[in-house]
Amino acid sequence: MIDKINSLLTEISEAKISNSGELEMFRIRFLSKKGLISDLFEEFRNIPPSDKKVLGQKLNMLKQTALEKYNFLRSNLAEAGSGSISGDLTRPAFPYFPGTRHPISIVRNEIISIFSRIGFTVSEGPEIEDDDHVFTKLNFAPEHPARDMQDTFYISRISEEDSSPDDILLRTHTSSVQVRVMQKQKPPIRTISPGRVFRNEAISARAHCIFHQVEGLYIDENVSFADLRQTLLFFAREMYGKDTRIRLRPSYFPFTEPSAEMDVNCTICGGKGCNVCKYTGWLEVLGCGMVHPAVLEACDIDSRKYTGFAFGMGIERPAMLKYQVNDLRLYFENDIRFLQQFSSAF
Ligand code: PHE
Repeated sequence: MIDKINSLLTEISEAKISNSGELEMFRIRFLSKKGLISDLFEEFRNIPPSDKKVLGQKLNMLKQTALEKYNFLRSNLAEAGSGSISGDLTRPAFPYFPGTRHPISIVRNEIISIFSRIGFTVSEGPEIEDDDHVFTKLNFAPEHPARDMQDTFYISRISEEDSSPDDILLRTHTSSVQVRVMQKQKPPIRTISPGRVFRNEAISARAHCIFHQVEGLYIDENVSFADLRQTLLFFAREMYGKDTRIRLRPSYFPFTEPSAEMDVNCTICGGKGCNVCKYTGWLEVLGCGMVHPAVLEACDIDSRKYTGFAFGMGIERPAMLKYQVNDLRLYFENDIRFLQQFSSAF
């Protein structure tokens, strides 16, 4: 037995351990219930009493040595921490490249941040929608051209000839989210809905079949066109600079009456005229108007008590202006050389 103890002592003192896996093997081999030292204590029971004193001391010493070595190695490994090979092998190697946000996300977050400062919440809804939320409840006539296959991607249609509120399609604007908000929440409502929308357009430098919008909705008692104008002026000045001027031109949307298109003065040429503003000095940035009473009624909101305004804008265009990107397709290709150039606080 004494020989066994001595050989284990040598083995323990010579043991080389460089990671937590090896340390665990060490523990199992020497210190576990079924380990070598435990076995020796079993054997110890059967040795003649005359040998017990000496062997007992030796055996205890062996156990103590193994324990001390184990504790020493364990604290050493912990100090070395993740530097040891047993660290997370999937961690990115030094030097780290923190990711950058997509330019569309940066501009979207900037728009959200501006409206949240004046009390707008953020609402989201499904990209796969039904005709009812995208068109019917928004006062689109059954034969409205926007419902046409030329503009809308249908997933399933009840009939080939006529549109039905049950048709399933990819939303063409995020006004559908506003319908959902009006259906489940009663006024006052003050919300914006950012999201991805789809229209059946040929892809070019200036158009894409997928793009992003932020639409806004404000409904309460006594909301007027003046409130709409002032809200949009605040937005334009926060977004495009404090000296920005806006102009509202009459327009048409089925879901607003009256409707308008908002322009901001062209910051690229300072109003002198350039090819970005097509020599008008103004850039078109959003559509807006007072929510049509028929829309309120379709969503069970009393149109004699409540009025509201709505607006909607694309994100790609302001992002193109902000970053001087002249081809929309770059936003969708996910080329790392393009994406790496953006950084932001948003
Ligand atoms: N939904 C319109 C669009 O997609 C934008 C809009 C929203 C216009 C709200 C007026 C009011 O172009």
